[in-house]
Amino acid sequence: MSEAAFWDKAAAKYAKDAISDMTAYELTRDRIRKILDPDHRVLGIGCGTGSTALELADRAASYVGTDLSPKMIAIAQSKQSNDTPSHLRFKVHDVAELPSGPHDVILALNLLHLVPNLEEVLAQIYDALPSGGMLIAKTGLLQDGAWYLRWMIPVMRAIGKAPFVRNLGKVELLGLLSSAGLVTDETLVQGSMMPRLFTVSRKP
Ligand SMILES: C[S@@+](CC[C@H](N)C(=O)[O-])C[C@H]1O[C@@H](n2cnc3c(N)ncnc32)[C@H](O)[C@@H]1O
Repeated sequence: MSEAAFWDKAAAKYAKDAISDMTAYELTRDRIRKILDPDHRVLGIGCGTGSTALELADRAASYVGTDLSPKMIAIAQSKQSNDTPSHLRFKVHDVAELPSGPHDVILALNLLHLVPNLEEVLAQIYDALPSGGMLIAKTGLLQDGAWYLRWMIPVMRAIGKAPFVRNLGKVELLGLLSSAGLVTDETLVQGSMMPRLFTVSRKP
């Protein structure tokens, strides 16, 4: 099954499920709200069903949410109302090809561990940011989590029940960000079974 087909199939359930750790979610959402500036042109990659984009868009000058899955994007678009800032748009887009920039802030929330060609994607993100532009990410750390997930996820993937998940650890991820030319100013680890690393990185 392709990644797009996997996420299309998951979209309706993803939209209905409650956020598993609301305290962690709110902490990083509020941190991002503080970082965003009314002049920022924001690109949210892998935006899923758009909930976070809808909560953050009022803090930006423009906001484009993109996702590989047409079903995720259709759900995101269906949540837009008269109260939604008119500068928020959702588009189907694979992260392998970013919409043309510049983007002052790129948000990659719960995404980078799902990307097989992460090195290439980070290089594109670097190119799409102006000097001083930021990549704000929350990334799953399979390597630093429960040992059994490292064999369970590939087995589940083989039967179409899990997406591709890269076996990343904190040290490797920070190294990849640095090798891409990004300077990471802020990090926060949340959770333990499959920890997530929140990072705020900037292009010097
Ligand atoms: C775990 S969900 C996270 C959604 C949202 N960012 C959030 O934090 O709730 C991962 C999302 O990334 C999308 N995705 C996976 N691979 C992608 C790719 N190569 N390009 C763009 N989006 C992708 C999936 O369709 C899915 O909506």
